Amino acid sequence: MSENRDGASALDLRGRRGVVTGGGRGIGRAIALAFAARGADLLLVGRDAGNLAATAVDVRIAGGIARELAIDLTEPDAAERVTEAALEGGGVDLFVNNAGNVRAGRLERIEEADVRAMLELNLVAPVLLTRAVLPSLKASPRGAILLGISSGIGLLPLPFYTVYAATKTGLAGFHHALRRELVDTGVHVATLYPGATDTDMMASSQAGESLGFGRRPVHDVVADLIAALERGEHEINTALPTRRGMQELHRSDPVAVDARLAPNLAEMEQAVSAHRSI
Ligand SMILES: NC(=O)c1ccc[n+]([C@@H]2O[C@H](COP(=O)([O-])OP(=O)(O)OC[C@H]3O[C@@H](n4cnc5c(N)ncnc54)[C@H](OP(=O)(O)O)[C@@H]3O)[C@@H](O)[C@H]2O)c1
Repeated sequence: MSENRDGASALDLRGRRGVVTGGGRGIGRAIALAFAARGADLLLVGRDAGNLAATAVDVRIAGGIARELAIDLTEPDAAERVTEAALEGGGVDLFVNNAGNVRAGRLERIEEADVRAMLELNLVAPVLLTRAVLPSLKASPRGAILLGISSGIGLLPLPFYTVYAATKTGLAGFHHALRRELVDTGVHVATLYPGATDTDMMASSQAGESLGFGRRPVHDVVADLIAALERGEHEINTALPTRRGMQELHRSDPVAVDARLAPNLAEMEQAVSAHRSI
């Protein structure tokens, strides 16, 4: 990162070779375009080849370089295949674990296949991908950035999001532990905790501002992410101010949150019971 006149660091990604999982749409696509505008050379990963190709065109227009890999990240050999493709032609010093899915609803009503789909994509895949790519990140002479996308639910686990909360608090815990393990290695571990963000993922949720799910445009979320990376931050929370108080209460007195949520429980269950992006 290079210094600005005001002392903040501009995120200069020229010459950086990176991977964005779920780079074809949503938050991943917006991150890819923001990184491209800073000169990054990216491998875009996801299942839908058409979305990846469309994003790759826009990455090039924005000033970056793009390759695509169409793959289901829950396949057993996905981490090896992504790493092999990423390392083609050089090392990797920028890695974004973004791909994710959600199935909300009362725990006993969530199908086992959906439980496994969330655990596999949101938790197992980023752990295995990170494990596979870490030697290259550590070998980078200019340091590396590892970014994972948790969720506001990783800071405030909510009812009817039990399994999703397990994956997102799990990813946050993975990052805290790994950051401590990687101290002095030059690998900057950053975690993004987006609140509700206006992407395909939220299309089937009926929960809005009154239940604490006021949605932010994806470009605002990614603008906050870039500014936080420029400041060298590790923990990046893009939740709306209306959600922050409850997040703080969960940190200081988690049981008090139960009582705050209780009066709206039935309304919340109804609003999120069809929320599914798998
Ligand atoms: N939107 C929100 O409100 C919100 C809030 C907090 C956290 N997040 C987190 O932010 C991340 C991105 O979410 P989003 O809102 O952009 O979601 P989205 O619009 O549903 O996009 C999901 C992305 O993941 C990819 N993906 C899904 N299943 C995959 C699989 N099995 N293998 C490979 N790629 C797969 C999708 O590409 P293909 O379909 O082409 O595979 C797509 O690029 C997720 O980790 C999510 O949990 C989102």
